[in-house]
Amino acid sequence: MPTEPSFLSAPLDAIPKNIDLPFPVYVTVAGKKTCLRNAGEKLTNDRLKTLEKKIDTVFIPSESWNLFLDYLEKNGESETNNPTQTAKSLHALLFAYTKHMERMREVQRNNVTRLRTLAYDLVNVTFENPQITAELLKRYKDHSVYFANHSVNMALYAIALGKKLKFTNSELKSLAFACLVANIGNALLPEELLYRNGKLTESEWKLIRGHSHQGAELLEYLDAPEEVITVARQHHERMDGQGYPFGLKGKDIHPFAKICAIADVYDALISQKPYGEPPLTPEQAILTMQGMHGKFDPDILTMIGTA
Ligand SMILES: [Fe+2]
Repeated sequence: MPTEPSFLSAPLDAIPKNIDLPFPVYVTVAGKKTCLRNAGEKLTNDRLKTLEKKIDTVFIPSESWNLFLDYLEKNGESETNNPTQTAKSLHALLFAYTKHMERMREVQRNNVTRLRTLAYDLVNVTFENPQITAELLKRYKDHSVYFANHSVNMALYAIALGKKLKFTNSELKSLAFACLVANIGNALLPEELLYRNGKLTESEWKLIRGHSHQGAELLEYLDAPEEVITVARQHHERMDGQGYPFGLKGKDIHPFAKICAIADVYDALISQKPYGEPPLTPEQAILTMQGMHGKFDPDILTMIGTA
């Protein structure tokens, strides 16, 4: 097993300025992690000026990550009428929990429970304030860390598709939660494999393909709702029976898993990944998916272009 990374990344946005914080913050300077401020210190104005121009990601030592989550919980949810501010707070919380889920080998039950309520917040803001949704999508598009962003993007696209399919509010919340944790099985894979910029052997592909089944088992252990477990297990099944882990065909795949599959592939195609091809435009992505004949539910796929 590789050694656990000693830092976890977070958006710079999530770190308030001119306030003492109970955890240290690092940045990467010339490829090296450099301490920006120690626990209990403030940033200087000079330092901030340099940062705002050049850096969008900071690093928190793994052992301080729970202090960081506690801080976000206490300070991130203040009621505000400012869409940018609300999007910023929700982004910081969603990012922290999805990132935590991705990097930690032991996913804690309360983290998954918290992601469920954040999925509910996500659905609520898409109804109450489209401006916040737009801000969130922008933030997730801009940010450089792929896997944590991908989970939230999947949830946002799935909510948009679910709305077009006239899902109830409670169905949308369940769908959003399912998409946020559909790839939780990645937390059980060696990190080096997830971010590998090179060829994978057949046995490594087998390990990666195991993330849907293993994720479902983990969610079962964490007492997630049945349909959320089903989506994790089935989000790589394909309508023509050529997916995994079971090769299920169209009618046997849960409708939420069909939506999650489309949101998953669509976001993967249009995003800059840590490996592989450069991103496609939304139009190119839709054409590519339509060209994969029989893989996706055609009725839902036609909706992604207008979602
Ligand atoms: Fe997946």
